[in-house]
Amino acid sequence: MRTIVEVTERVLETPSTVTLRFRYPPIAEPGQFVMIWFPGDDELPMSLSYTDTDSKGVTVKAMGETSRNVQHLEVGARVGIRGPYGNRFDLAARRILVVGGGSGAAVLAPAAEAAARRGSRIVVALGATQAPELLFRARFESMGARVEVATDDGSEGTRGFVTGVADRLLREEPFDAVWTCGPEVMMEKVARAAEPAGVPVFCSTERHMKCALGMCDACALGPYHVCVDGPVFPAERLLPLPEFGRSHRDPSGRRVPFGSR
Ligand SMILES: Cc1cc2nc3c(=O)[nH]c(=O)nc-3n(C[C@H](O)[C@H](O)[C@H](O)COP(=O)(O)OP(=O)(O)OC[C@H]3O[C@@H](n4cnc5c(N)ncnc54)[C@H](O)[C@@H]3O)c2cc1C
Ligand code: FES
Repeated sequence: MRTIVEVTERVLETPSTVTLRFRYPPIAEPGQFVMIWFPGDDELPMSLSYTDTDSKGVTVKAMGETSRNVQHLEVGARVGIRGPYGNRFDLAARRILVVGGGSGAAVLAPAAEAAARRGSRIVVALGATQAPELLFRARFESMGARVEVATDDGSEGTRGFVTGVADRLLREEPFDAVWTCGPEVMMEKVARAAEPAGVPVFCSTERHMKCALGMCDACALGPYHVCVDGPVFPAERLLPLPEFGRSHRDPSGRRVPFGSR
């Protein structure tokens, strides 16, 4: 059932990313998502970027029309919400490499915070197109994480993709788990880079969603429903799927290669 909540705080995190906070008491775990409905627009799945207290949050990157409209919502705006849905990151690992690309950091930050509170060592490889777009860098640093940065244009940290940084960190330190969220091509590279070291990789995936209840098949990823079997999957389940990192399905179910719209 959908509840209407009021936006209590709006934070411009990066030039293209906004966090909206609202009071929503249902218990949520890091990794889970909600279906959020913005008046005048369609319902979108959004990971919870704040899960701990009644004050939940989503962090939205301006992509297409709906997510661009969200950038203009102000404190006091009302949005519809249902959930949380899906599974969570397993917080048991003691040494965790977090690899975030773009808005992927939105779901990784609350999970890393929860693991850090339990005493896990957190190392973060954070990537963005350019320095101002690095999402939640200060938030990762304030939880005591080692943060290594990559930008496509070299404006901060290593020039190039964050996968190069992740690759180096995997050779520098032992890890018990890798958590990753970002473009699927990136997650696939991270998963393959961790294979030789035998470190289990967990990917937070995205697909088109309608019901979020495992009933409509909109979010199919191979034999899985992302809404109920995921969104967090061990990479060993994803790597054998021909579509992982290559294609997704549009609202009509048509297969679309990543990178085309
Ligand atoms: C589990 C999950 C978690 C996500 N978490 C985040 C997050 O934390 N931050 C973030 O910025 N984005 C997140 N996304 C992506 C987000 O749901 C949208 O896909 C993205 O914002 C682009 O939507 P758009 O309307 O701007 O783009 P467009 O590509 O222009 O979409 C056009 C229309 O398609 C529909 N649509 C687009 N994507 C979806 C979708 N995945 N499911 C259903 N309908 C859709 C809507 O009707 C939308 O108006 C997540 C997706 C999933 C599946
Ligand atoms: S969104 Fe309907 S089955 Fe997942």
